Amino acid sequence: MLSRKVREKLATHETPFYFYDIELLRATLAAVKAESEQYGYRVHYALKANFDPRIVDCIKAYGLGVDCVSGNEIRYAIEKGFSPKGIVFAGVGKSDDEIRYALEQGIFAFNCESAHELEIINELAAEMGKMADVALRINPDVDPMTHRYISTGQADSKFGISYKEIEEVADRLEALKNIRITGLHFHIGSQIREMRVFEYLCLRVNTLYEWFKNRGFHLSHINLGGGLGVDYEQPESEPTPNFKQYFAIFNRHLKIDPALEIHFELGRAIVAQCGELITRVLYNKVTAGGKQVAVVDASMTQLIRPALYQAHHAIENLSGGSDYKTYTIAGTACESSDIFADGIRLPHPRRGDLLSIKTAGAYGASMASRYNMHDLPAAIYSDEL
Ligand code: LLP
Repeated sequence: MLSRKVREKLATHETPFYFYDIELLRATLAAVKAESEQYGYRVHYALKANFDPRIVDCIKAYGLGVDCVSGNEIRYAIEKGFSPKGIVFAGVGKSDDEIRYALEQGIFAFNCESAHELEIINELAAEMGKMADVALRINPDVDPMTHRYISTGQADSKFGISYKEIEEVADRLEALKNIRITGLHFHIGSQIREMRVFEYLCLRVNTLYEWFKNRGFHLSHINLGGGLGVDYEQPESEPTPNFKQYFAIFNRHLKIDPALEIHFELGRAIVAQCGELITRVLYNKVTAGGKQVAVVDASMTQLIRPALYQAHHAIENLSGGSDYKTYTIAGTACESSDIFADGIRLPHPRRGDLLSIKTAGAYGASMASRYNMHDLPAAIYSDEL
């Protein structure tokens, strides 16, 4: 809940824009750091969640590594001062140029997603006279119980090396002289709220780790990916995700050699709650079916999650009021799916009212587009108001 003073200040800015609560981000980072460090775990920030420069600077100050999925993300992380030794590189479609660039930089690990990719990394590393440090991304076939568009670790997903293929991949590895297998990588999906999913993941990881160990692999790390979800329904009730419970699950259920480093790649849990999209009401209308519609000046081009995943984001009328009714909050884009909320209860959103679309710090600004030639969204930070 924003204070009246903050709301008044926000009202003086041109909408739409992202508002970032830097104090909340810092509190979240302090929590993730304290809870992971007690077990010696290493956390990489999944840059795709939000690459806003100020957000990234704050994250860097807490000593996290970075999880990248493109050459541009690696370049940006290095420009921002992250050590290449704290960078992991995932993605099913790494281009040759991206692989060469990552090899030049000497990143911590390629999280390799297929047998074919292993061969190409080996070939390119040989051409450059380098050894590539690689973690095998195994698809463990665990149901993350989340939206199917953000599930990545089930049998027929495009991500990772199928658990059915690992025997064959292990056989072929001996011939790949420019690859050093340093770890195993897993990432089964995002916005995971059922904590037992992480227990199931641990059980699968334990079995796979044993298998690799028995095959004579000397691994130095296991990367469990990201996926910890946040409360989109009532963001105020859980501003900082329950990192304590999350890391304790891995500590309790992972049964692997204690000499191995344990890594994580968290995105959403770190940045989702610190960001909100602030927009202004433009028009009111009523459909033939009787729906009360408020058209706002933001759209799916600033925040695509509701249109793409039917994601729910809580909305608050920052201008106040007590005449609660049920509204549809519609964006400006020429797409029927550009609806921020359908059937949400709010004090009557009148022309000029400011609305806050909450929990938008992750996969909000980073997924913005210029569709309809909209401007990319601006950002305003709590400590610069
Ligand atoms: N590691 C890998 C390999 C990933 O693919 C992802 C996210 C993460 C880590 C970070 O996951 P997180 O901790 O943020 O759940 N645009 C979607 C989410 C896509 C997630 C993609 N991968 C959304 O808005 O919900």
